[in-house]
Amino acid sequence: MRYLEETLYDALGGERAIATIVEQFYDRVSKHPELMPIFPDDLTETRRKQKQFLTQFCGGPALFTREHGHPRLRARHLPFPITHVKAQAWLDCMGRALQASELENEKAVQELYQRLTLTAHHMINT
Ligand code: HEM
Repeated sequence: MRYLEETLYDALGGERAIATIVEQFYDRVSKHPELMPIFPDDLTETRRKQKQFLTQFCGGPALFTREHGHPRLRARHLPFPITHVKAQAWLDCMGRALQASELENEKAVQELYQRLTLTAHHMINT
């Protein structure tokens, strides 16, 4: 009875949890020597889009698609040279952000990190 199962979005703590993770994440990205050069100085819009994306990635409302269309995530990243080193830097920032977010459901956090690891590796294009 799949429809009775809780989504990863709910298990993590919904809107508040996603907002916290994204804030923590870009605070780290903005200081990371591998990532800083390819991101805009003002991360306001990037944070907003990532909140929308992660919400739907975790099974919450399809906020990203509603506003921007199909994510086509790999295609959207092609303008940026994403090496293995940059993917690892991205994941390091995310791992630290998840720790700093101090969410209660450890299993849900681990599942999110595993799924993001696969997605990050898929973004490598250089
Ligand atoms: C693997 C390492 C990654 C690097 C180096 C990277 C880098 C970037 C950069 C430079 C941007 C453009 C920021 C802007 O102009 O606002 C971006 C946008 C974005 N990234 Fe990544 N990214 C990576 C992985 C990921 C992953 C794993 C996800 C999904 C969980 C993701 C989701 C997004 C989203 C949703 C956007 C906004 C796309 C849009 O503008 O429509 N990225 N990323």
